[in-house]
Amino acid sequence: NDIYQPWLDGSLGMNVNHPNHQAMLATKSGEFFDKLYKVQPEIPDHIHHKEDVETIFSPDQQHFRIGLCHTLNHIDQSALYETLKQPPKWQQYPPEQRIDIIRQFANSLENNKYELISLCIHEAGKTWQDAIAELREAIDFCHYYAQQYDTLSKPVPLPHTANERNQLCYKSKGNFLCISPWNFPIAILVGQVVAALLPGNRALIKPAPQTRICGHKIYELLINCGVPKDSVYFLPATNQLSQQLVGNRGIDGVAFTGSLQTARTIQKELLDQRSYPIPLIAETSGLNCMITDDSILTEQMVKDVVSSAFGSAGQRCSALRVLFLHESIYQESIRAIKGVMSQLTVDHPKQLNTDLGPIIDDSALTRLKTYIDERSAENKVLFQQPLTNTEGYFFAPALIELTRLSELNGEHFGPILHVIKYQSNEIDQLIEDIEESDYALTLGIHSRDKHWIDFLCSRLNMGNIYINRHITGAQVAAQPFGGHKKSGSGFKAGGPNYLLQFVNEQCISENI
Ligand code: SER
Repeated sequence: NDIYQPWLDGSLGMNVNHPNHQAMLATKSGEFFDKLYKVQPEIPDHIHHKEDVETIFSPDQQHFRIGLCHTLNHIDQSALYETLKQPPKWQQYPPEQRIDIIRQFANSLENNKYELISLCIHEAGKTWQDAIAELREAIDFCHYYAQQYDTLSKPVPLPHTANERNQLCYKSKGNFLCISPWNFPIAILVGQVVAALLPGNRALIKPAPQTRICGHKIYELLINCGVPKDSVYFLPATNQLSQQLVGNRGIDGVAFTGSLQTARTIQKELLDQRSYPIPLIAETSGLNCMITDDSILTEQMVKDVVSSAFGSAGQRCSALRVLFLHESIYQESIRAIKGVMSQLTVDHPKQLNTDLGPIIDDSALTRLKTYIDERSAENKVLFQQPLTNTEGYFFAPALIELTRLSELNGEHFGPILHVIKYQSNEIDQLIEDIEESDYALTLGIHSRDKHWIDFLCSRLNMGNIYINRHITGAQVAAQPFGGHKKSGSGFKAGGPNYLLQFVNEQCISENI
């Protein structure tokens, strides 16, 4: 009965359509962005001996400057190792105290909601709705993992053997390097760090370079809520430096969310630099598909397709990349999808009516443009609405027609949806193509045929399957999230087993 049900209030009590809430958000946002953030990470002096100050520009259309953040370009690895050799003070705190502090931290996220939501909008280019949902998810992670750890912190009695009492305990692993992405600069960062901290680990926060200010705000709140300064470090390192950090002898585990390529580099570094296996929890990419049949409700399917493919400007690992349409509904569905696409507003995320905000940065935008140019040259772009605002890193949602999934050699991280027409006798081939892509994150099925749905669920080995709904926005606790193969390793975030990755099991057998 006491299972945490956070999704009951997914909006943090805020309604972006309510004029009073709009006014409050606008005022608060204005207040925060009239001042310039100046972030100087507090890292013990001996860890680094050289630092550069870098100006951070937010990725919105005005290249609005939101802050200055010290960027670490060099860290003295042996000094860092000496620091990491000391157990964190936090480890000595009783589990109840750690749980209590993490719950206070969750409350402080809520109390600072206007600032955090504004940061998400201005630094990560998130829409209001996405920023609110992101903060809600971060708070949910805290409460859910705190609840999980409450159970995990108690020894598990095991069967007695002759004259022996046995029990299983869960102990902290040591130092966790938490490398988080720019597309969920608060939720994913908080999820990793809180899961690392609860069992008594030290957490090293390495935020994405694009969203360091969000990362610093989280660090600041953790410290203010009582996490000792030696137990959580903010390391706004360059990506290159963070790869070196992975190999540091003091690191006992790495939690990473980002690209498959970076996950492979981290894994290689761990294998090459360390003399024993170090756990890597990796959440990476998806080549997420949705399969529809001729029994669908077109209107519902189109609504779910558009939100899954173009919501958050397609910058979610769960986003829909490929839609399989049965030939009997192909023309009608394409017409309806184009119709909705033409109504989408691509604009600055601080506008309340924006459906798609900007692409995160110049290089990401260039990659998307290059890809569209290639597909245009092949005559495969079915639709892309012209942009009205061309000043910033904006990219209009695009629809591309393919004949086989194998024409795609990876994900394109943005608002691009591919459609493939199939015939009934091609379904085995289609399933084989999806399995052979080696991605296994999200899958959507739209159908009113129960047998067909069961058949697809049994044949397709995907991390999260969504039936007759959109395929993004997994809810903490209710929809544990994560994939396998090219999509990641380890237990699902927001699920009952996630915390197990941050502990060592210890079996104690006592002669009585
Ligand atoms: N958890 C997010 C979603 O479900 C992706 O990271 O969309």
